[in-house]
Amino acid sequence: MTDGAGIQSAASESERYPPPAAFVADAHIKSQEEYERQHQRSIKDPEGFWGEIAADFHFFRKWDRVLEWNRPFAKWFVGGTTNASYNCLDLQIERGRGDSTAILWEGEPCDAAGNPKEIKRLSYRQLLQEVCVFANTLKKLGVEKGDRVTIYLPMVPELAIAMLACARIGAPHSVIFGGFSAQAIVDRLEDARSRVIITADGGFRRGGIVPLKANVDEACGMTDLVKTVVVLRRCENDVPMVAGRDVWWHDQVKGASDTCEPEQLDSEHMLFLLYTSGSTGKPKGILHTTAGYMIHTAYTSKLIFDLKPDDTYWCTADIGWITGHSYIVYGPLQNGVTTLMYEGAPNHPDWDRFWAICDRHAVTKFYTAPTAIRAFMRQGAAYPEKHDLSKLKLLGTVGEPINPAAWKWYHEIIGGRRCPIVDTWWQTETGGILISPLPGITDTKPGSATRPFFGIDAAVVDKDGSEMGPNENGLLVIRRPWPGMLRGIYGDEKRFHKEYWSEIEGVYFTGDGARCDQDGYFWLTGRVDDVIKVSGHRLGTAEVESALVSHPKVAEAAVVGFPDEITGEAIAAFVTLRGGETPDPGIIDVLKKHVAKQLSAIARPKDIRFSDALPKTRSGKIMRRLLRELATKGRVEGDTSTLEDFSTIANLRGNTEE
Ligand code: PRX
Repeated sequence: MTDGAGIQSAASESERYPPPAAFVADAHIKSQEEYERQHQRSIKDPEGFWGEIAADFHFFRKWDRVLEWNRPFAKWFVGGTTNASYNCLDLQIERGRGDSTAILWEGEPCDAAGNPKEIKRLSYRQLLQEVCVFANTLKKLGVEKGDRVTIYLPMVPELAIAMLACARIGAPHSVIFGGFSAQAIVDRLEDARSRVIITADGGFRRGGIVPLKANVDEACGMTDLVKTVVVLRRCENDVPMVAGRDVWWHDQVKGASDTCEPEQLDSEHMLFLLYTSGSTGKPKGILHTTAGYMIHTAYTSKLIFDLKPDDTYWCTADIGWITGHSYIVYGPLQNGVTTLMYEGAPNHPDWDRFWAICDRHAVTKFYTAPTAIRAFMRQGAAYPEKHDLSKLKLLGTVGEPINPAAWKWYHEIIGGRRCPIVDTWWQTETGGILISPLPGITDTKPGSATRPFFGIDAAVVDKDGSEMGPNENGLLVIRRPWPGMLRGIYGDEKRFHKEYWSEIEGVYFTGDGARCDQDGYFWLTGRVDDVIKVSGHRLGTAEVESALVSHPKVAEAAVVGFPDEITGEAIAAFVTLRGGETPDPGIIDVLKKHVAKQLSAIARPKDIRFSDALPKTRSGKIMRRLLRELATKGRVEGDTSTLEDFSTIANLRGNTEE
């Protein structure tokens, strides 16, 4: 076996890293006995377990029942009323944290000496005021409880402020990652039936400006749904304002009161939609509700990152993805810590930016993606060695499997061998972490997300649902509901059933392959469906295909993922051109740019090949397995007996690449 991303080498599996003694002494959970007792209880009696945890949160009205489970529909804390912004802000202030820093933000632009031009600190009290001001502004603009508000902002404090303001008034937010383009915005706006969008003139990224408002304008040209665009001034780039539709954030907030009573929302009130990719070209709006999500993200943050009030915690994700929702905003704020937000790229102005930030702000807990670690590793240890990383106590990873070599580099070079690493497995759909070490308890094995969290009943099964034996590869499923689980796909109950609850009878199907070793440790082996993870970002093959075929020259396209040393997976596209045209030299570049423009720069294929036809079965289904083999190994060894026309494979193999 190789030691590539997602594939574990046999040697590394026997390696164990016990929690460092100095860390254990101070950890929330430090005794194995306590852990075993609590874990057993949580599995035997999840309702009793989560009911006790929930007692620590603020409910306006206490729930009548912890769980109502009519598969596949779960309701948690039934009959209770609460508010997520209240738990993130007011409750923290009541607990004496009003003057501590809630959000510590660093903008991307730097001066000639490499120092950041802007750093902002918002205390819990200030953040509450800003949230109330914006909540009142949204109300003034006509936003009511239940209205979906689209947010398309750079990584600035106003992004968190807008989300919490929505949560305060019960208007579900739908955040769109700033790297998505106009078509992706339209698809999401229309699916959510959202009439209000909050954006900025631009966002700073790698020294340039991302034209967010221009993308919104283009999107609004394709739909007449949007009635109001609130524009934050960030980059001072020139943006045309459409009279009657566009308003400036700074004008609108003038005169708004800085107090706003939180709506008392049903536990199951929709907190947000977050669009993610699946097996069709249409992104799905993953629906999360209030109380269960709130409690799951807060409790996992506390125990997995071992959060203490004096922590400066930094999750490097973008808030446009679930990691940012759960572990930059809702989870950390409910723990009263300082959550750090950084606006820009990891290599601006140079490859030591992350380490400079850790040093400057004395970051204690650091959470990032394996792709970033691999990219830093390639740049060499000299960059982190320029900075004092001694305040770091814990490191985390998320989003894709981490290869043992990257894990060890992270452990040694960034963590100085004194920081436990939590490799956290979860999904947009799960809301919060489901499989992860507990840093004071778990012996970690590089490349394994280790064991399920409290209350999580995970298993590796075959297609019929029978549990696999130790170390046998199978499919990862979750057999019981958990508080942060998705409550549905917005407006598409059928798809919710089909994609998650019908593949394997009676259980939640994750779409991931995995195996469980003799110690009960889970090893994730990657997606088994048509989802590709490029740099930990989730993309559907069908989305990229439809971006390709929207180009006038493309007749048909098939997209597969193949292993990449840095990004984990990269995209290979197999294309047939209209009218049997022969590809001209510039076409590869044209198509790559077209995908970036249509969907997102992260969806740019790394490799494009052409053929007169794509390999299909006699019934017309594209044989992706063969394409994957071609992209990965450059040849096809597997069974081709069902292939309609073998010459297509020969053509593709002989084709030009980059
Ligand atoms: O394949 C798994 C991978 O990321 C998928 C979920 O992607 P998304 O919804 O974008 O959420 C990413 C951030 C939570 C999973 O189905 N994945 C996530 N974490 C890990 C992982 N694969 C291996 N190890 C992980 N720690």
